[in-house]
Amino acid sequence: MMENRIIDLEELPGVGAETARKLREAGFYTIESIAVASPAELCSVGGIGESKAFEIIQAARKLANVGGFESGDKVLERKKNLKKITTGSVSLDSLLGGGIETQSITELFGEFGSGKTQLCHQLAVNVQLPEDKGGLNGSAIVIDTENTFRPERIYQMATAKGLDPEEVLKNIYVAQAYNSNHQMLLVDNAKELAEKLKREGRPVRLLIVDSLTAHFRAEYIGRGTLADRQQKLNRHMHDLMRFGEIFNAAIVVTNQVMARPDIIYGDPTKPVGGHIVAHTATYRVYLKKAKAEVRVARLVDSPHLPEAEVLFKVTEKGIEDVEEEKGRKKRTD
Ligand code: GTP
Ligand code: MG
Repeated sequence: MMENRIIDLEELPGVGAETARKLREAGFYTIESIAVASPAELCSVGGIGESKAFEIIQAARKLANVGGFESGDKVLERKKNLKKITTGSVSLDSLLGGGIETQSITELFGEFGSGKTQLCHQLAVNVQLPEDKGGLNGSAIVIDTENTFRPERIYQMATAKGLDPEEVLKNIYVAQAYNSNHQMLLVDNAKELAEKLKREGRPVRLLIVDSLTAHFRAEYIGRGTLADRQQKLNRHMHDLMRFGEIFNAAIVVTNQVMARPDIIYGDPTKPVGGHIVAHTATYRVYLKKAKAEVRVARLVDSPHLPEAEVLFKVTEKGIEDVEEEKGRKKRTD
């Protein structure tokens, strides 16, 4: 299986404190991200020549054990461990084939107020439910980039689920990310925290990044190139995916997009991160406001689930079904 030990960049031959600092600054926080980089990408980090870049990548490949083949029975074994977290809505769960899946990245995208953050809050509560209630008895980690985490809201949602709200809050670990590099670093820190919680018998089964793209979008306006941003975002997504696989955790990321009513039933949006995020995310859910508390969720580009949409609502209690829609799934393709 995969190695779980966290390896510091400084363990790579020829990487001292200064090189490690530069690598991190360029968004290389993990051995894995270096292992899959090209020598040219590494050379663009100040002070690393071509042969040194090659050497570092080779060493990272050995240590990270990337690109290794997994035998079919191992793949099956890992897939057997896939689990789902309920969203709180039967309709939304059925849209997703049973809930939010572990070892996968689910991207929630939509315009402001479409319910992305609300759904994240609900999942951070629901992951703590016992398995027979749709949870995974797990803890949650939240990387909050817009300072929108609201403990009072968790309190409310937990109470509505009959959970002890104080306990629920204790099992949600929140960090603010100040910029895109910090956001990437926090995934690395999350690994350490998850190791610790695993040892303590409180495994992390959910990692949320809300918002995945806000810092990237803000920072790359007028500086840097789009290609740089995409490469960094790509590394970030792979680090997240790796976290999901190592800890059998669900990864949920949010991405704000502008509504484009003119083409809502084509490609509805031009999300930041564009195809990078779209291709790395396993499930992409487009959220849209309907009237009052009602929201529309539409599953797009999913490899093994039909493109469909359902309604749910955001109420005092949290994410719920719209009664008359319960269990109904409308095909739109
Ligand atoms: P951005 O982050 O701005 O892109 O939006 P978002 O998609 O994250 O929206 P969010 O999840 O924050 O949804 C906001 C909406 O959820 C509000 O307009 C309300 O309809 C609903 N909402 C948020 N908090 C509460 C609450 O405490 N009670 C109830 N009943 N509804 C809430
Ligand atoms: Mg939000």
